Amino acid sequence: MSTSEQDLISWKTDAWKDRNMVKWYSGRMVENTDANRLKNAVEVELCERFLLGRDVLDVGIGTGRASLPLIAKGYALSGTDSSQAMLDECLRLAAGQPITLRQGDVQQLPFDDQSFDSLISLNVMTHFPHIEKVLAEWKRVVRPGGRLIFDIYSLDHLSFARGETVTVEDLLAQGNNAFNMHLSGERLRSAADEVGLKVLGIVPYGSFICGEYPHPAFAMPLQASAWWRRQLSWLACDDALLEMAVFLEQHFFGCLSSIATGRFMVVLENSVDTAANQTWLEQDQAISQYLRDARPIRLEALAPWLNLPPDEWRAAFDRHLGRMRNRGVAYALLSTFLGRLDAIDWQDLSPRHGALLNGWAMSEYWDRNVQSFTRNWHQREETRAFCDVDGVPLASCLEYQLQRNLIALLSKPKSGDAV
Ligand SMILES: C[S@@+](CC[C@H](N)C(=O)[O-])C[C@H]1O[C@@H](n2cnc3c(N)ncnc32)[C@H](O)[C@@H]1O
Repeated sequence: MSTSEQDLISWKTDAWKDRNMVKWYSGRMVENTDANRLKNAVEVELCERFLLGRDVLDVGIGTGRASLPLIAKGYALSGTDSSQAMLDECLRLAAGQPITLRQGDVQQLPFDDQSFDSLISLNVMTHFPHIEKVLAEWKRVVRPGGRLIFDIYSLDHLSFARGETVTVEDLLAQGNNAFNMHLSGERLRSAADEVGLKVLGIVPYGSFICGEYPHPAFAMPLQASAWWRRQLSWLACDDALLEMAVFLEQHFFGCLSSIATGRFMVVLENSVDTAANQTWLEQDQAISQYLRDARPIRLEALAPWLNLPPDEWRAAFDRHLGRMRNRGVAYALLSTFLGRLDAIDWQDLSPRHGALLNGWAMSEYWDRNVQSFTRNWHQREETRAFCDVDGVPLASCLEYQLQRNLIALLSKPKSGDAV
């Protein structure tokens, strides 16, 4: 490991030792703003969904947001963290519930071999570029057949969204503070093979909170727009919107592949099975290939990977879309999915509201295309004359009128066109 990588790990590790930082983080974990409630709900549910056995270790436990709810459900919890201040805060929040806490390092766990049935770690692996080394240590404390569950950013998503192959080295070169470990499906398979772990699967998530697709309407990442942040802020207080968001995370994005969202949960088993790892990778790649090629994506084609039968899926989505705010948010999110407007056929996803939403998509299509076309009219040789009225340049209101007329003309079906 190079000095700069070790510096990066030390910097990130030390930052959490500061008591003021811990106080801020602890408040943030219960703060109900933006997509916080959604992130918590999705991540904690995923940990619990894949747990196996009773003895659980939480690595980099922090304030215990994933672990503390599990104690009441009968799990025997242990936690480790390099920050004593974090452990103190976790113990305070445990409020007398039984939990074993030990100060220790991610790469040198203060527990004996094979002490646990499952190991969970939330928002921690993202700090470590050498996941093979970390995984070898995590495997040591998990019993054979036990589980390792952790989240990581998706390198496949990043590469797909940027339209070029991005490497971990590229990300490291961007500077220490900015670094977040991103994992590709290929690297996950090779790391699992190297360490002697079996990939049970990944669950993409975080569609609402991280992603790199440019929003076609705003020509900037969806997440970076103030409009989208305002929509996200409703998640804090609108239960029906939150329920739809959880539905999409769990029953749509969560069933797809490593290119689908900016982040995924990894579920590994402590057993050696290189053939299963290869099969998993091929399946992940097959889903990605489908998502890349299909125009539009069809629910029936996704059926082998969805965790609900397509008609049940449609009925549930229809119910969520019954609310106006849900329709607006779902439209913004899914119409930018994979960075293209034609990824979704709304009628296929929502028999009841699909026609309306397809209409929105069609209007947006014409609006964007005609706008970019007319905006350049005054610069083009062939059309410049249209923009000049007796030496006076076309005013923006006339440009708007021109756009409207063009949209009306172009979107009218011509005789012979299929209706
Ligand atoms: C982003 S917080 C996540 C806390 C908790 N898992 C959660 O999801 O809320 C990262 C945690 O990892 C811990 N940490 C950072 N570097 C570590 C290291 N080298 N060994 C053990 N813990 C570490 C920090 O002290 C902090 O509690």
